[in-house]
Amino acid sequence: MNIIFTASEATPFAKTGGLADVCSALPVALSKLGHNVAVMIPAYRQIEAAGIPIEVTDLSYTIPIGKKNITGGIAKSTFPGSDVPIYFIKHDRFFHRDGLYNSAGVDYQDNCERFIFFCRAVFEAIRLLDLRPDVIHSNDWQTGLIPAYLKTVLCPEDAPSPSFSSFTAGPAAAQDAERWKKVRSVFTIHNLRHQGRFPHWEMENTGIDWRYFTYDKMEFYGQLNLLKTGIIFADAVTTVSPEYAREIQTEGFGERLQGVLRYRSCVLSGILNGIDVNEWNPETDPYIEYHYNVDTVFENKPKCKAALQREMGLPERSDIPLFGVVSRFDAQKGLDLIADIIPSRVERDGVQFVILGTGEPELEDRFKELSARYPNNVAAAIRFGAPLSHRIEAGADLFLMPSRYEPCGLNQMYSQRYGTLPVVRRTGGLADTVTNATYESIADGTANGFSFNWGTTEDLDGALTWVMTCWRERRDDWKKMVQTAMRIDHSWDKSARQYLELYEKLMNG
Ligand code: ADP
Ligand code: GLC
Repeated sequence: MNIIFTASEATPFAKTGGLADVCSALPVALSKLGHNVAVMIPAYRQIEAAGIPIEVTDLSYTIPIGKKNITGGIAKSTFPGSDVPIYFIKHDRFFHRDGLYNSAGVDYQDNCERFIFFCRAVFEAIRLLDLRPDVIHSNDWQTGLIPAYLKTVLCPEDAPSPSFSSFTAGPAAAQDAERWKKVRSVFTIHNLRHQGRFPHWEMENTGIDWRYFTYDKMEFYGQLNLLKTGIIFADAVTTVSPEYAREIQTEGFGERLQGVLRYRSCVLSGILNGIDVNEWNPETDPYIEYHYNVDTVFENKPKCKAALQREMGLPERSDIPLFGVVSRFDAQKGLDLIADIIPSRVERDGVQFVILGTGEPELEDRFKELSARYPNNVAAAIRFGAPLSHRIEAGADLFLMPSRYEPCGLNQMYSQRYGTLPVVRRTGGLADTVTNATYESIADGTANGFSFNWGTTEDLDGALTWVMTCWRERRDDWKKMVQTAMRIDHSWDKSARQYLELYEKLMNG
């Protein structure tokens, strides 16, 4: 099968969150299963920092957007440790910037035009590189127009629009249209909150006819909505966990798209993300000093804990639990609940917290203030840094994720692999991956973390009281849970097979 994967980020080239991890690990897993996969993302400035050679091709194309003709290029590289190609859509004015989507927390004014250009350039690149895809798999709002282009301007029924691009005009148009008609599209929602909503006049720039600007297609409360566009036009829509696929069809989680999602429920499913088990492997992790596996965890993980305490300037204490947090500081993640419970937990139990993250200034200030107030208990690193995130996974006893909603979440899985018990709110992918420690689940050996139901301070605090009881009084059960968590198979293989089944169903359907 020929599969093109389009997204706005992919590790190790460009990353702001878990989307990037998925958009490199899944294509590589699909390729290992014997398929031809190519990935396309924008050529941001960030891609140069990855230290991987990037070759700029001499291919170029011109896309008419509104009254402008915009010329772009294509650069190329390969994912490390694989032969999966990644193509970068080049247009320096749009993409060669410091941030991916914003600067100092303010969204770029021209985000709509940037990603219209990206989506249209993807089709130009496919043609110029002669890739002949069976499936185009797009992700999140930045690529929401791709399924729409296949069903509108590129489709024979829709009469190819000369204003769309260079290659749909002229005598080759009909032939081209027949080719695109066979291509199936999959659209994955990684986060329903970010929808790519723009003023209605941007519709003009998409190149898609205004007759699609209706409530059942691209319009959303008077605006253009690119996530909704992907949901409407894709042949299949997926989310990154089965529980999130259910939740988003309800008012509480639907972000005003619950009606659209229920309308598309026959093509909507949830496939749980995997993790890159090579990058996240406590036996080989280059960022940690002491390595371990399920047999040596109780010997070497305490050394990782002591090293982390030293690195973060906390007293070396093995008798109290250390909680880790690695996160974007965003309302989604419920970090305010953590800040709320820190004073009482520190004063009552003397526990320690190591927090790594950046984002909302108010949260950054709260964690800085807490670390100044409790220098022996709280250490906050307000930045983005992969090496420390690995050392937190290895050194912490527990990992906190009180998310208000969580489409999948990767850190709870990294934690389990490192024998660090996750404490999570039971929602989305967190509900699908963490089995709460109860008398029953401890007894039958399925417990692999802690979870609580409601996104409130009281509920998190209640869960922590139970955590402290287990820490103090149930050491053997604790060890059993650590080993159960470490033995879970989170590799991409299973999820990649589920995506392949979906692609096959679409191709035969
Ligand atoms: P989301 O994509 O919503 O942020 P995920 O749990 O899916 O949540 O993925 C988050 C990813 O980003 C993980 O790989 C996590 O380690 C990483 N990450 C988030 N913040 C930081 C940070 N400050 N430093 C290093 N890695 C981070
Ligand atoms: C989004 C979600 C997160 C998910 C990630 C990868 O960023 O917030 O829950 O794990 O995408 O799918």
